[in-house]
Amino acid sequence: MRLPVILALLTIACSAPRLNSFHLEDQILDHGVLPARIGFGSCADQNRPQPILRRVVERDPDLFVYLGDNIYGDTEDMAVLRGKYFTLGCRPEFQALRAHCPLLATWDDHDYGANDSGRRYAMKEESREIFLDFWREPKDSSRRRHEGVYDARLFEDDGRRLQIILLDTRTFRDDLLLAGENPEPPFKNDYRTNQSPDATILGPAQWAWLRRQLLVPADLRVIATSIQFGHSYNGWESWTNVPRERQRMIDLIGETRANGVVFISGDVHWGEINRQDVPGGYPLYDVTASGINNDWDVIEPSTRRVGAPVALYNVGFIEVDWSAEDPAVALISMDVEGREANRIDLRASDLRFPGTR
Ligand SMILES: [Fe+2]
Repeated sequence: MRLPVILALLTIACSAPRLNSFHLEDQILDHGVLPARIGFGSCADQNRPQPILRRVVERDPDLFVYLGDNIYGDTEDMAVLRGKYFTLGCRPEFQALRAHCPLLATWDDHDYGANDSGRRYAMKEESREIFLDFWREPKDSSRRRHEGVYDARLFEDDGRRLQIILLDTRTFRDDLLLAGENPEPPFKNDYRTNQSPDATILGPAQWAWLRRQLLVPADLRVIATSIQFGHSYNGWESWTNVPRERQRMIDLIGETRANGVVFISGDVHWGEINRQDVPGGYPLYDVTASGINNDWDVIEPSTRRVGAPVALYNVGFIEVDWSAEDPAVALISMDVEGREANRIDLRASDLRFPGTR
C-alpha cells in the first residue's frame, strides 16, 4: 500500500473516538482513559426525532451508556429488527452522539425483541448477533463468546479506576408472575412479586461472572441494569418482581465488599433517583434515565425516591472530579431542555464500606 493511502487511512482511524483497550479474561481494560462525564439513556423510538441527544453532545460526555429499549424492535423477524437498527443508525442526532464519544450498550425487552420478554424469547441468539454488530462489538471480543450480552469495562488512569458493568436482564430471566385482573393490594399494574427461590433474573453464569467483577478493585463502579433496581415495588417490570434476586445483589455487594457501586437504569418512561440505605454498608443509588423520546402518564410513587421525578424526556449523567483527593461524584437527571432536573452531590468516600479505602 502506498504511503499517502496509509496516511489517509490513519487519519480516518484517528479521527474517530477510540479507547486504548486490552482484553482481559472477563473484561476490557482501558489504560490512560478515565471518563469524567458518563451520560446514559434508554427508551428511544427510532421512528421519531431524538433532540435530547443534541443536548447530550453539548454536555460533552466522555462516554454514553445505552440502557435498553434502544430501539423498539418488537418482532421475531430479524430482517425487521435489522431495519429498525438501521433507522436509528441513520438518525443524524444519533450519528452526532456516536461521533462524539464511545457508546456502550445493553438491552431491554423491546430491542431484545418482545415486550416484557425473558429467556423464552425464541429469537434471542439471532437478536444478540444483530445487537452486537450494531453496537460495534469487535469480532474477537470475549463478549461474543458467552450467552447473553453482559459485559464489563474498566478504565484506569493515574491510579484511579472506573468500572462499568452492563447487566443482561433478559436472556436468562424467568417468567414473571402476572398480577391478574384487579389485583389485591399491595399488588398492582402488571406483576406481583415472585418469592420462589428458583426464580432468576440474571441466571447462574451471569451471577458468577458478576461476583468476579465486583472483586476487581475500582474507585467507582457503575452497574447498568435495563430495569429499575433502586425503587420500591410499583407493579411494573423491575428487580422488585423477584425480591430474592434483588436481595442477592445487595448481599453480593456486601460479601465482596465492592465499594463505589451506583446503579443506572431505564425502561419506565420517567426519570428518578432512588436511594436505599444498607445496614453495615453504604447507600445504594439508582439513577433511572427514561426515556430519550418516551414518557408516561402516571409516575408511580417510590418510598426510596430522592428529589422530584422527571416527567419530561430525560437522560442521566454521572460526573466525577477525579482530580480531587476524595473524588466528587454528581448524579444528575437532565431533561430534554438540557436542564438539571435533579442532582445529588456525593464524594467517593460516601460510597464505601465503613473502615475500607
Ligand atoms: Fe423495557
